[in-house]
Amino acid sequence: MEPISLFQNKHIVLGIAGGIAVYKVADLASKLTQAGAQVDCVLTESATKFVAPLTFAAVTGRAALTDADLWRHDLHVPHVSLGESADLIIIAPATANTLAKLAHGQADNLLTVTTLAARCPVVIVPAMDGGMWSNAATQANVATLRSRGIRVIGPAIGRMASGLSGEGRMVEPMDILGFIRVVLAEGGSLAGRKLVVTAGGTHEAIDPVRFIGNRSSGKQGFAIAQAAIDRGARVTLIAGATALATPFGAERIDVESAQEMRDKVIEACRDADTLIMAAAVADFQSAHTADQKIKKTKDTVEFEIKLVRTPDILQAVKEQRDRIEKPKVVIGFAAETQNLIDNARAKLTSKGLDLIAANDVSATDAGFAVDTNRVTLLDAGGGVEPLPIMSKVQVAERVLDRMAALLG
Ligand code: CTP
Repeated sequence: MEPISLFQNKHIVLGIAGGIAVYKVADLASKLTQAGAQVDCVLTESATKFVAPLTFAAVTGRAALTDADLWRHDLHVPHVSLGESADLIIIAPATANTLAKLAHGQADNLLTVTTLAARCPVVIVPAMDGGMWSNAATQANVATLRSRGIRVIGPAIGRMASGLSGEGRMVEPMDILGFIRVVLAEGGSLAGRKLVVTAGGTHEAIDPVRFIGNRSSGKQGFAIAQAAIDRGARVTLIAGATALATPFGAERIDVESAQEMRDKVIEACRDADTLIMAAAVADFQSAHTADQKIKKTKDTVEFEIKLVRTPDILQAVKEQRDRIEKPKVVIGFAAETQNLIDNARAKLTSKGLDLIAANDVSATDAGFAVDTNRVTLLDAGGGVEPLPIMSKVQVAERVLDRMAALLG
């Protein structure tokens, strides 16, 4: 996992109660550490029956704490210092017993006493048998915790260790990570801003089974959406064809054709601060979409499809923007295989953009489907900023830095 800006210099206390999902939490601790957070694991006694503290120490590179540490004379009131210095406390898995203790302010182990002493946001990830979860006592405890501002994610529905299916499974580590990002991003530099981001390629139907598509993977647009969420923005992600998972917290709208993407973009832009068009929109669509699958005969040796232009979405945005002055900032991407700068500058001007990221898609280490990109940022004021080869996540950060400056 690549380092994530949001996690740099963040101190996270990961409280671990005793449930079978503990083995998955070792992966969560590892991911948080790889993302750049300083992770202190605090295990209850029953958690240590499932997985040894050593596992957590190994993946975080820091001592994993247990109740024995509460009474150590060489650590100065560890629960207070942990609770005070944490940017976030996350309790995963949170068992019915630990939920009950927290709801009643009980503080009989290092995990509960640390949580009681904390001033930072607290996230709880319940995991237990379905019957225990639906029990009125547990539900009342969770409601109490929620009413005090504690965030709860899950539990999910599915198979549990008992072999039964129901609501009680711990949410998967990647989703917990996404949830944590949203909580840590609150009050970030883009809080209160709405961004519309497009990503992926469009599909233009020829008949019910065939389409015209392109090689876009959606990676750059999804990285921008995630990076904006990490800065606290509200993000509408309008996605064409892509296999990528939705960044947690994004409002995702799936579209197929350029026409459909145009309609959704125009609607979403009405109250947006920024549009970032990272999608690879088809320029042509079939003049006629057949209702039935087009068949060949034994004599068919050639087949022609007449293509007509699709709407230019950025042109349509420009027209709406001239009327309603929204979005304030519009950023495009230019996919080029030659004359990169000249072609991109022409697009910037004709589409009325504030910034364009010019992309040489003929390079093997940049553009479609790979994880890296090399772009040059051109602005409406004539500025040219060539960026070195970097990950699409890093490109996203640079584009957002420029966008933030344009938003003012
Ligand atoms: N774009 C758009 N609507 C289209 C085609 C492209 O809004 N019908 C947007 C893209 O999302 C991108 C920018 O316009 O942000 C430039 O896209 P690109 O494919 O590089 O250029 P085109 O305008 O399609 O021009 P050409 O294909 O001739 O290079």
